[in-house]
Amino acid sequence: MRTLRSRLVRAGLALAGVAALASPACGRQPTETIKIGHYASLTGSEATFGKSTDNGIRLAVDEVNAKGGVTIAGKTYKIELVSDDTEGKPEKAGTVVTKLITKDKVKAVLGEVASSVSLQGAPVCQAYGVPMITPSSTNYTVTQKGNMIFRVCFIDPFQGFACAKFAKDELKLTKAAILFDQAAAYSVGLKDEFIKHFKSMGGTIVSEQAYTKGASDFNAQLTRIRETNPEVIFIPGYYSDVAKISIQARKLGMTMPLLGGDGWDSEELAKNAGEAIDGCFYSNHYAPDQPTEAIQTFVSKYQQRFGGIPDGLAALGYDAANVLFDAMARAKSHSGKDLRDAIAATKNFKAVTGTITINDQRDAVKPAVIVERKGGKWAFRAAIEPQR
Ligand code: PHE
Repeated sequence: MRTLRSRLVRAGLALAGVAALASPACGRQPTETIKIGHYASLTGSEATFGKSTDNGIRLAVDEVNAKGGVTIAGKTYKIELVSDDTEGKPEKAGTVVTKLITKDKVKAVLGEVASSVSLQGAPVCQAYGVPMITPSSTNYTVTQKGNMIFRVCFIDPFQGFACAKFAKDELKLTKAAILFDQAAAYSVGLKDEFIKHFKSMGGTIVSEQAYTKGASDFNAQLTRIRETNPEVIFIPGYYSDVAKISIQARKLGMTMPLLGGDGWDSEELAKNAGEAIDGCFYSNHYAPDQPTEAIQTFVSKYQQRFGGIPDGLAALGYDAANVLFDAMARAKSHSGKDLRDAIAATKNFKAVTGTITINDQRDAVKPAVIVERKGGKWAFRAAIEPQR
């Protein structure tokens, strides 16, 4: 007991010390607060997506506040983050985003991860004239919802190209099967793009099978795929389903590599799939083992704060928040329109996941990385540059 108490007292003193250091000496003392919203799958079958993104955003918020806050048109504000759970359900997005805007009065919205959820949240932001930046929704149509909607990640027309190019040029495989989630905008869009590019590179699609998120038995689809002898199966799904699929495929004696998109990015995948995922690949927005300074600095800061290696979602959450703060500092005011104009003008912003320039479609154009499961780890395997 006594040890615990004295530890708590010491922790309290340490915190007080930090607060004392951070206050008046810094000069510019923020007087008011600006709220920003984050809608995310904090629970549910994609819970690691929301939690990682939220951690990344929190890290960025704490850093900007530690520097004194954000100065908009000569006035300095502290940033307050309001995060709300969508459970990863598209049908929750409208209510959650409406609440963030009308009740919490957030000036900008970050989120969602899953494209199907962003597609429901975006029209609400657009209708209220509040800018939204999705860190990680890659479906092409998300930013088409209106001129208030931005993203800091690449889009699936490119991600599909990157996966096809890797399978064809790097793995030298020409016969692919597809297993996709027919209810997810992300999965359907990425599947179509992969097929288009893989075929145009001279590859063949031998089978195309569908599932619905949350299913438990994939044997029927996998058996049909097995009959067509593919050299690789492309699975543009989310990690919970992919873990089950990989285990069931191996049980059916299917040993070919599985290839996926960014939706595989969760430590839960390998935890649940175990050896079934060995020798598999997926495309992502960054790899924490890339030796660049921006990445290594971020990884160590994140590790210190949260423990564990940040996934792509954490990096994109961090980047989305920093793009927003950078825009705020350039904005004429904190009105939705002025914030929007400043975000739209983002050029060559040096982020963790690459250099971000927002194009006229309000998207970012960046390279993709392919990671490989090898020796019990995901390791950087290749970078695929955008087609220009
Ligand atoms: N790109 C996915 C989508 O649009 C979401 C995602 C991004 C998942 C990054 C994992 C990592 O639905």
